[in-house]
Amino acid sequence: MNRRDAFRYLSWAAASPLALSAQQGFQEGVEDPAAIPDNLDGPVNVHEFEALAKRKLHKMAYDFIAGGVEDEKTLRANIEAYHRVFLVPRVMRDVSQVDTSVEILGQKLDSPILIAPTGGKNLVMPNADEVVGQAAAANNTIMISAGGADKLIGEGVALNWWTNTTGSASKTQAQSYARRVVDRGAKVITITADNEYQSNRDRNNRNRFDYGMMGTGVPKPGQPAAPPRMPAKPAMWIPHTPQMTWEMIEWYKSAVKIPVVVKCIMAPEDAELAVQRGADAIVVSNHGGRQLDGVMATLDALPDIVDAVGGKIPVLMDGGIRRGGDILKALSLGAKAILIGRAPLWGLGAFGQPGVERVIQMLKAEFKLALALAGCKDVTEVNRRLVRRQYKFA
Ligand SMILES: Cc1cc2nc3c(=O)[nH]c(=O)nc-3n(C[C@H](O)[C@H](O)[C@H](O)COP(=O)(O)O)c2cc1C
Repeated sequence: MNRRDAFRYLSWAAASPLALSAQQGFQEGVEDPAAIPDNLDGPVNVHEFEALAKRKLHKMAYDFIAGGVEDEKTLRANIEAYHRVFLVPRVMRDVSQVDTSVEILGQKLDSPILIAPTGGKNLVMPNADEVVGQAAAANNTIMISAGGADKLIGEGVALNWWTNTTGSASKTQAQSYARRVVDRGAKVITITADNEYQSNRDRNNRNRFDYGMMGTGVPKPGQPAAPPRMPAKPAMWIPHTPQMTWEMIEWYKSAVKIPVVVKCIMAPEDAELAVQRGADAIVVSNHGGRQLDGVMATLDALPDIVDAVGGKIPVLMDGGIRRGGDILKALSLGAKAILIGRAPLWGLGAFGQPGVERVIQMLKAEFKLALALAGCKDVTEVNRRLVRRQYKFA
């Protein structure tokens, strides 16, 4: 970027909705949070589902979901990245029929939208994984989760479930985990790679949040609080899977035939290693800005990772997706599909299962429309020519 471009970029950034947000309490996509009607047709977009969920949820639960780590630089960056990448639509193409389907790991999906793993859903309501699983099954969407899905599948619900794990302690445990989840109906094992330690989340620390509530929920007014099991404190040292290395992929694959996906890859070098070590796909993700603050935005990281992988395995991504147009940008930069983390939780917080379904349907419809208005009949017509970065002035 030369000096003139840098100046233009900075003036644009200062006037962007997110900069306004800091100055004036502006919330993108929401005119008046108090005026959103409290019914399923009330919110007109995902942002309004969030505003409504915020009205209804306990502050501790809202902050746990909405928040990121420390100063939330990465949380904001994930969203801001979509403000810098612009679409360049093609016209005069027949887009009377538009097909949003994609194929990933041999599975044909009617849209490139998957539900990301989100621990702590029970802060919103009891058995929340099952509620989200029902919504995903009713809308032909994959749910990635650590639990909840196996029970539904056992009861005959046609849910496409990718299990999520932060890794196993030994090869023996990995193999028995893999066999167990396959027996329970998992189609894919997704390893979260960036959860070595509990991260430092100021909102939770400020709220004196107890991580034990992730399973039990926030106590109702008048209900006695259980003794805290894992009270949030600044920069606590709570190991999750600090010992995990690339051999984890082989451990799972030596036991079962289903694909293994590695989530939370941000470095092109790690993407190459994932390919070499036998991953069947990767997810470019920074855990929704919840692990290490200052990590770059996923949309910005995506192109280099796609180039490093060179088409050998599918590259998925998540982070900051709130609109169908965001999905189109991610696909233009090389993602085969995207995951949504907070968006379905806002639907859940606002209206339970119907809210999750409405959010999924809204994003699917927005994506289909964006695809058509960009002049693409299907995802095979989406490529990097469809986007430009704001700061590249000719
Ligand atoms: C409440 C919450 C809990 C999460 N828990 C997990 C988790 O257990 N494992 C994981 O890999 N990612 C987890 N994530 C990250 C998501 O899978 C996903 O990467 C991220 O939310 C995507 O960003 P988005 O929320 O902007 O869509 C969580 C995210 C949220 C919001």
